[in-house]
Amino acid sequence: MKKISLTGIQATGDPHIGNYFGAIKPAIELAKTYDARYFIADYHSLNKIKDAKQLSANIREVAACWLAAGLDPHNTLFYRQSSIPEVFELSTMLMAFTAKGLMNRAHAYKAAVQANNEKGSDPDAGVNMGLYTYPILMAADILIFDSDVVPVGKDQTQHIEIMQDIAQAVNANYKQQVFKIPEGVISAEVGEIPGLDGRKMSKSYGNGIPIFSPEKELRKLIMRIVTNSQGVDEPKDPDTCLIFTFYKLFATKEEQAALASRLRAGGMGWGEAKEELFRVVNRELSPMREKFNTLMADPAGLDKLLAQGAEEARPIASAVIKRFRRAAGIE
Ligand code: ADP
Ligand code: TRP
Repeated sequence: MKKISLTGIQATGDPHIGNYFGAIKPAIELAKTYDARYFIADYHSLNKIKDAKQLSANIREVAACWLAAGLDPHNTLFYRQSSIPEVFELSTMLMAFTAKGLMNRAHAYKAAVQANNEKGSDPDAGVNMGLYTYPILMAADILIFDSDVVPVGKDQTQHIEIMQDIAQAVNANYKQQVFKIPEGVISAEVGEIPGLDGRKMSKSYGNGIPIFSPEKELRKLIMRIVTNSQGVDEPKDPDTCLIFTFYKLFATKEEQAALASRLRAGGMGWGEAKEELFRVVNRELSPMREKFNTLMADPAGLDKLLAQGAEEARPIASAVIKRFRRAAGIE
């Protein structure tokens, strides 16, 4: 029996290369050796996105994104969270085992409260219960499929720990292994990818390089990367510049060594280095962009694929609910 790898990605629009290297690419790599279950966390996105048209477009975009990045739907269970009602049943059951204090300490909620306090607003202003209980739904996503590993970016560490806490609370209460305790797999090699302005690349900062921006747009974004004011002739340190940080993600070892030595030698301006960066980024992203555009042109095809995935996934989810209900005395 293969081990199970599971991850979810929110449908919050325009996936960027931080999402690609931090989450999508490592997850697709794991799918080669694990039994993979990858899904679109559309109910999680509902906490933020209240515009129906936007959410439905985002859902298809994120689906097309995974497929364009190489997810093989014949080899991976690929579905929408919203198509698996068992996830929400489990989420409700898990609520009974989740301390309210644990939710008070969750990063996203704490950050919202802190921002409100700084503004002098009511601490809970703009916080909906979906945001507050976000980690419980995420725990349900993971536990409903008996996952072994959960590939995610570093910022999800706390969510993984909360999921483990909740699962352990259930097991301890019933003195049996209702749930396996899954582990997070956090790509240490990639770490946290910075954005165009040097802060963490994130949709919320608008500092990302979207994976599927048209070629012209991509070029413009790369030209916008912040550099210091060193002149063309000055020797430059590749290890402290953002251009080289991005270059390492896309270039071969030989290309990296060549660019590093040209920068160190002096005589290469930031503009030229950015052109070279654009070349390698576009080399990797353009075949994906083409595939993405083809997939997006057939929304019915995407929907069908996701529906098939859900159909295969539901019996697995239903067995886990039965196991928990039996343990809980609710049959
Ligand atoms: P964002 O911060 O842009 O809203 P999400 O929260 O939707 O991104 O993250 C989706 C996945 O991509 C998560 O697994 C997350 O850890 C990963 N991820 C997001 N930003 C980065 C980044 N800058 N570097 C590495 N991984 C990232
Ligand atoms: N919270 C994750 C993020 O923002 C998305 C997510 C939802 C998820 N459910 C999940 C990730 C289950 C892994 C497993 O990126």
